[in-house]
Amino acid sequence: MASRFLPLFLSSLLIATSFRCSVADASLDGGAFGSDDPLIRQVVDHDEVSGDNELLSADHHFTIFKRKFGKSYASQEEHDHRFSVFKANLRRASRHQKLDPSAVHGVTQFSDLTPREFRNRFLGINRRLRLPSDAHKAPILPTNDLPTDFDWRDHGAVAPVKNQGSCGSCWSFSTTGALEGANYLATGKLVSLSEQQLVDCDHECDPEEKDSCDSGCSGGLMNSAFEYTLKSGGLMREEDYPYTGTDRGACKFDKSKVAAKVANFSVVSLDEDQIAANLVKNGPLAVAINAVFMQTYVGGVSCPYICSKRLDHGVLLVGYGEAGYAPIRLKDKPYWIIKNSWGESWGENGFYKICRGRNICGVDSMVSTVAAVSSGSK
Ligand SMILES: *[C@@H]1O[C@H](CO)[C@@H](O)[C@H](O)[C@H]1NC(C)=O
Repeated sequence: MASRFLPLFLSSLLIATSFRCSVADASLDGGAFGSDDPLIRQVVDHDEVSGDNELLSADHHFTIFKRKFGKSYASQEEHDHRFSVFKANLRRASRHQKLDPSAVHGVTQFSDLTPREFRNRFLGINRRLRLPSDAHKAPILPTNDLPTDFDWRDHGAVAPVKNQGSCGSCWSFSTTGALEGANYLATGKLVSLSEQQLVDCDHECDPEEKDSCDSGCSGGLMNSAFEYTLKSGGLMREEDYPYTGTDRGACKFDKSKVAAKVANFSVVSLDEDQIAANLVKNGPLAVAINAVFMQTYVGGVSCPYICSKRLDHGVLLVGYGEAGYAPIRLKDKPYWIIKNSWGESWGENGFYKICRGRNICGVDSMVSTVAAVSSGSK
């Protein structure tokens, strides 16, 4: 590794000390909804319902939300509670919109959940997880001939968007996504791989911290999952070991049905040109991110003025580009294209765009590349 990258690399290790699959926004979550709050008016002003009656407009939004995401509540009390949470989330989306003007923030399928509920249900425990101390560092690649736009979806290396459900298993989806791409590069075949195998069978621990281990719906780390996959012999197909969204089942790994094998994996330095070069050469990359703006993200390029670099979500970097992006701040580069695991109804058909240039939301901090064993050597 070139010495000028070393301090950046070390700082990336320090940042990656707390990792879970969470979307939390405690700092930005407001108190009780106030009907005269100017922020809610902003959200509903462009609605066809009279902008003067915020409660009616929020009600209208809630009706649309329930229909769109098929929500129903067991009792009137539950319904009323969810409506008050929904209103607080409208205000939060409005704050996010101000902080992140190049993206669109609003109602998502998570709009009736408090940040705490979201964290507990979709994410996992607050465990300290670090990169394995023996993580290999990716070789420095040439960056002079990088294309200005690149998208692995155009090259057949990205499987359809999946949905982790109410389980903090984002780390397993990030892992399968990277290996699906690497396996495609090695074999020419795109095979969807099993997250459930990782959720059920991967209990790999950090060699430095013995109680920091991959643990199903309670969280994990992509590098540990690559280590497990290397040791266990590989991952089965999605269809042979389908996703259930729970971690209460026994491990059903059948080594005779392995569909993709890890040859090696390594950590990419905190340098956006190196990240781009590794992406283009090796396939989609497993990355961690702070997901605070993702709970309200609807579309566009997310480029918030302020975003924590505390990593709490694992996703897949599949490309980068500039099409359709009018940078508000000229120093910002175009965006990364990120595949998420919250289904196709979230974001831009399941994808997220976040601007490059400033390690926004920590997206450059913990990047891993994996190589698959080619079919000839299986
Ligand atoms: C990783 O494995 C691939 C495929 O076998 C190989 O081409 C590459 O040289 C390996 N990289 C490292 C750093 O060992």
